[in-house]
Amino acid sequence: MFEAYWRANGDSCTTVILGWEQMSYFASRKHFLWFVEQELENEIRQLHSLVGNAVTDGRFIVVGTGSTQLFQAALYAVSPRDGAQPASVVSAVPYYSSYPVLTDYLKSGIHKWAGDAANFHPADSSSSSSSYIELVTSPNNPDGSMKHAVVQGSGPVIYDLAYYWPHYTPITAAAEHDMMLFTVSKCTGHAGSRIGWAIVKDAQVAQNMAKFIELNTIGVSHDSQLRAAQILKSISGRLFHFGYSEMSRRWDLLQQAVKVSDRFSLPEFSPAFCAFFGQVTSPHPAFAWLQCNRDSDCKEVLKLGGVLSRSGVQFGVGPDYVRISMLDREGNFETFIARLSDMAAASLASTAASYQEQML
Ligand SMILES: Cc1ncc(COP(=O)(O)O)c(C=O)c1O
Repeated sequence: MFEAYWRANGDSCTTVILGWEQMSYFASRKHFLWFVEQELENEIRQLHSLVGNAVTDGRFIVVGTGSTQLFQAALYAVSPRDGAQPASVVSAVPYYSSYPVLTDYLKSGIHKWAGDAANFHPADSSSSSSSYIELVTSPNNPDGSMKHAVVQGSGPVIYDLAYYWPHYTPITAAAEHDMMLFTVSKCTGHAGSRIGWAIVKDAQVAQNMAKFIELNTIGVSHDSQLRAAQILKSISGRLFHFGYSEMSRRWDLLQQAVKVSDRFSLPEFSPAFCAFFGQVTSPHPAFAWLQCNRDSDCKEVLKLGGVLSRSGVQFGVGPDYVRISMLDREGNFETFIARLSDMAAASLASTAASYQEQML
C-alpha cells in the first residue's frame, strides 16, 4: 500500500553501510540493551512524540526482529518461572491468528495458549498458583475495533499496538500501558526490514526481554536497525496523510462493492477526533473483516470467486467470517475489488432469478 509513497520519497531512506561497519554483535553502548542502536532508539522516541500515539518518557525501548520476536520475548519476560503450572495466555476473540501458534509452538513449560479472554476467569483456574497473561491488539487484527483488557484480574497485559497509527485509526490519546509493541511493518510498510520495538515501563521486564533476544538471536541485525532508523528519520507528517487518503479510497471502494447486495457485510466504525490530524477522522483498518450472510464457509465462497482469505476459525470465531488484507499492492487490491463486486452482484442476480421463478 505504501509503495507509491516510497517510490516518490525513497531517496531519503538511502542507507550506506561500508564493509567494515556494523561487524560486531554489539551496538556501541554500555547498557543491558547492548544490541539496540542508539540512533534507532532516538528516532522511535521522536516518531511517537510527532504522532502522539504513545508515551516513551521514562520507558525502555527494546528493539526486536519484528514485533513477532518481541511478542515472544514479552511472554518470556512476564511468565512466572516458579509457577506449578504454565501461565495461561488469553486474548478476546476474534484474536490475531498468530498468537495461539506463537505461544505454543515450542510447547514451553512457562506459558500455554488458553483461548478467549472473555471466557477466562483467573479464580476458576485449576490451580490456585496458576497465572495468566492477556494479549490486547488495538486496533484489532482482524476486525479493526479498539480493544481493552477484559480479564478481571491483575495479570500482565501485552498491548500489541501495531496498527495504532493515524492512517488506520484516529489517535485519541497517547497510550501509556506497561508493555506496548509496535512495528515498522505496519507503520511505514517495511515489513521486510524485520524491525519492531517494545515500549516497556518496568526495568526488570525490559531486561528479561533483552535476555530472550540474546538467547534467541544474539541481538538484532544492526544493518536493519540502521535502515529502519533512516526510514523513521525520513518520515514526516506526509506519510500519514498519504496513508490516510489511500486507506480512505480503498475502504470506499470496498464498501461500494459490498453494498451491491446483502451477500456480505462489514463491521461499522465510528469517526473520532484524531489528535495527530487535528480533526475528526474515520477508522480504516488494515483488514476487511468480512461476514458471509448466506454461506456458512466464507473462505470457500471467496476462493471460488478467486479471492484468498483467512477463515474466521483461525481467529477463534466461526467460518462465516474471513479476514482479507487491505494493504496489498495496488494491482492486487484492484483485482480483489473487481472479484468481490462480481460475487456480490452474482448473488443479486441469483436472488432476482429465484424471485422471478416464484412469481411465474
Ligand atoms: C497484530 C500484529 N502484531 C504483529 C504482527 C507482526 O509484525 P512484525 O512484522 O513486526 O513481526 C502483525 C502482522 O501482521 C500483526 O497483525
